[in-house]
Amino acid sequence: MFDALTPRDPDAIMALMEAAKADPNPEKIDLGVGVYKTSDGETPVMRAIAGAQAKWLAEEDTKLYMGTTGSADFRKALLELVLGDDHPDLRGGRIASSQAAGGSGALRIGAELIVQAAPNPKKRASVWGSTPTWANHVPLISSAGLEMKSYPYYDRESLGVDFEAMMATLRAETKAGDVVLLHGCCHNPTGADLSDAQWAELAAFMAERELLPFIDLAYLGLGRGLSEDAFGLKTCLEVCPEVLFTLSCSKNFALYRERTGLVGLKTASKATTDIAQTHFGAIQRKLISMPPAWGAMVVSTVLHDRELRHEWVEELNEMRTRIRRLRRALADELSVQGGEDVARAVADQQGMFSMLPVSKAQAEKLRAEHSVYITNSGRMNIAAANLDNIPALARALLAVMAA
Ligand code: LMR
Repeated sequence: MFDALTPRDPDAIMALMEAAKADPNPEKIDLGVGVYKTSDGETPVMRAIAGAQAKWLAEEDTKLYMGTTGSADFRKALLELVLGDDHPDLRGGRIASSQAAGGSGALRIGAELIVQAAPNPKKRASVWGSTPTWANHVPLISSAGLEMKSYPYYDRESLGVDFEAMMATLRAETKAGDVVLLHGCCHNPTGADLSDAQWAELAAFMAERELLPFIDLAYLGLGRGLSEDAFGLKTCLEVCPEVLFTLSCSKNFALYRERTGLVGLKTASKATTDIAQTHFGAIQRKLISMPPAWGAMVVSTVLHDRELRHEWVEELNEMRTRIRRLRRALADELSVQGGEDVARAVADQQGMFSMLPVSKAQAEKLRAEHSVYITNSGRMNIAAANLDNIPALARALLAVMAA
């Protein structure tokens, strides 16, 4: 039976991670996969997470199944963190949610729910994603049975969001019931975010056109701040009657391999929300039965313990501040070396990523000649650089861009 299989290419981001690991050059700069690294190049367990793990290990008294939608304590605490304790939709029981196997698991559950809401493929919504978007969005969402279309987003000339082109396409080509996939903050792969005013305009348009915002919030707290980074999601919840969203604890709690996330849905009525809640459980059951428990219990422990929570917020602030400092340092260095336009974009963009005007051939050259690893699309994870290697990074980037 399996003789018919033909080899698959490895996932581009994972392959880049392996290639960087195998490079013997001690001066290599690995800015591929989106993980936060300290100045020593490590991705340590956060102090608050270590404390919570010890606490939960002492408290845990069973490994019994937790249920198909995971821990209610985790869901409540995470939603309150993101939206605020007294958010009207939380108070009113208007948000259905499920714990999920990371942000990716959450996206898949969301996509499956859209399919279930419109079982007739001919009447099914299209999902509109930004150009570019996170490479895994497309397989995750389209393999659930949804057609993905794209709207323009990043302008590789100005190195910023082309909001006019985005809105023009959404206005001209979407139909009521379509889904607009959005990055809540820290756009992956470009780092170019919508402004608050643009979120407000977009939310009003989506409400008027009856489009469903599907918001992927994977980098909360790593852009402008914990509250500021939720602006887009909160605005859509305020303005649009239905909002689907996913949260990831991979980056902001540094829980990457623990696969900890959440999918949430606000609908137009409490009755529909209650029905959607039953679907979340049924979808998870059919996909993986139940989400993994450990990461969610650790996050829940952090959020319920005053000291651990305080420590986590401080560590998150440290990460965000350091990323901003690295952006500033690289921007200064690029300017000094003659790359003013790129410098401006690097300084303005948010979160871990920046998309540079680097072609696939130039990215390959960066690897071969400078041991600098960025994706072929030109995405650089600035959160993995350090102040010592920034001058060499700027030199290498400008050298390949000039060639
Ligand atoms: C990334 O974009 O590099 C991260 O989200 C890791 C991944 O799974 O691709």
